[in-house]
Amino acid sequence: MAYFKVEKLVKYFGGLAAVNGVSFEVRKGEIFGIIGPNGCGKTTTFNMISGVFPPTSGRVIYQGQEIQGMKPHRISHLGVGRTFQVVKPLGRMSVLDNVTAAAFSRVSSMREARVLALEKIDFCGLTPVKDVLAKAGVNVQMISTSEIKISVVVDANYVELAQRVLHDAFIG
Ligand SMILES: Nc1ncnc2c1ncn2[C@@H]1O[C@H](COP(=O)(O)OP(=O)(O)O)[C@@H](O)[C@H]1O
Ligand SMILES: [Mg+2]
Repeated sequence: MAYFKVEKLVKYFGGLAAVNGVSFEVRKGEIFGIIGPNGCGKTTTFNMISGVFPPTSGRVIYQGQEIQGMKPHRISHLGVGRTFQVVKPLGRMSVLDNVTAAAFSRVSSMREARVLALEKIDFCGLTPVKDVLAKAGVNVQMISTSEIKISVVVDANYVELAQRVLHDAFIG
């Protein structure tokens, strides 16, 4: 059984087929990338996987469970997360407070949320900027970017849909 599977995903916007029959499988531990020219349907595919909108047809199967059409928060709680090309942090809060707020989707106490947030910040190499305002923290990342990459990262517990935008954070 594939850990994460997309089967014949289709999305129509009116008469336009933005995604037309996309299928792929991701094994546990595999890093899987999707590349293609602007407008070929990458973001639309990620939007369907993460529940921004439902597919016109097709299935998304995570650990044997069909998740297509579920609300984004349910998909997130199941363990399928995503990032966005244009990030919208709470700019006047610190990097640590932003990540702590997100950690409450996994844990329920402030103490646990802090521990989890510090761990994730460390994993991302952001410890040196954890106390600066998120706005500044985001700029640090944007300056250091140099290519566009969209990938599905799978580990034992979760699927992360990561869109990393290097060079130009506003490329679609
Ligand atoms: N919400 C939307 N409404 C109408 N058309 C859309 C919408 N989102 C994307 N599209 C169209 O769908 C196609 C695929 O877009 P997109 O998934 O953003 O491509 P990519 O991310 O690969 O650049 C494009 O023709 C785009 O204009
Ligand atoms: Mg895109």
